[in-house]
Amino acid sequence: MPISPESLPALEANNLPAIVILGTGGTIAAAAASVANTTDYALAHGVEAVIQAVPQVHSIASVSGEQVVNVSSQEINNSVLLTLAKRVNALLQSDSVDGVVITHGTDTIEETAYFLNLVIKSTKPVVLVGAMRPSTALSADGPLNLLDAVAVAASSTSHGMGVLMVLNGRVGSARHMVKTHTMGTDAFTGQEYGVIGSVIDGKVDFHAAPLRAHTVHCDFDVSLLDALPDVDILYGFQGAGSALFEAAISAGAKGIIFAATGNGTLSEAAKKGALLAQARGVAFVRSTRVASGTVSIKGNDIEFNTVASNSLNPQKARILLSLALTLTNDRTRLQDYFDRY
Ligand code: SIN
Repeated sequence: MPISPESLPALEANNLPAIVILGTGGTIAAAAASVANTTDYALAHGVEAVIQAVPQVHSIASVSGEQVVNVSSQEINNSVLLTLAKRVNALLQSDSVDGVVITHGTDTIEETAYFLNLVIKSTKPVVLVGAMRPSTALSADGPLNLLDAVAVAASSTSHGMGVLMVLNGRVGSARHMVKTHTMGTDAFTGQEYGVIGSVIDGKVDFHAAPLRAHTVHCDFDVSLLDALPDVDILYGFQGAGSALFEAAISAGAKGIIFAATGNGTLSEAAKKGALLAQARGVAFVRSTRVASGTVSIKGNDIEFNTVASNSLNPQKARILLSLALTLTNDRTRLQDYFDRY
């Protein structure tokens, strides 16, 4: 649906790419009491202040800011994801917007990025960026991360690459980038599948393109959605019983992601949980608590009506299952989504 002109941002008329920066909060917008403090801080700024701290963005793009929410990313929920996705889709439909950057807390940035990767209906660049250190830290990483993110969003080489994440000079696909450290500025990597590019001295350099289906190649349409099915993540450990499966199903979960041991192994208690899920029409995905590697399809997936998460970690598997359940809860079709997306 076309967007009305008054809902478009005021972008300067020049020859620079027009980039809208959508603020959602996070450490990139936070401040601490001392310059040496890198871990104890609070949200302090809106997106305009985050942009003002990096005036250099205006020499590479015509930039405008818009606040979507201003929260720490553990507060981002399905409702915010849908609002954000609809706004990004609306902006990118306009000929006067060339790309979108989203500032976001790093704790759940990988989930939002993967959600957008599955629902954005445009080949224009969408780049998520955050910071591991607050804006007041002596060596804050937010400003350079933001400048790099705008450079990626403004680059013609970023078109058709799906949703991207830019942190610490690395460009990664939303499908693969994960947080691997609680506080280091080097917290994000693409694990087995690597990062796909870099930004060095402002120069964007891609080395690979994501092959998994993304954006315009995905089946999901958020314009038809006001809510997403509830999907819970349950964690596997020695001696775990089936009570948590029963609780999640009784509470109304439409899907369960099991962060299982190893290659998505089901304990006897988890098998009981899977059979209960099947009896109640609840989808069950075997993911893993292991940091990297693929969860493979097994012979007994049919017997237990389970789906293998492929290389999606539990939090990204939750995003895909929530969207997939808006179209089907057939096990074979769900497995197909996990194999292709
Ligand atoms: C958050 O995710 O909002 C807090 C942590 C961060 O941004 O690094």
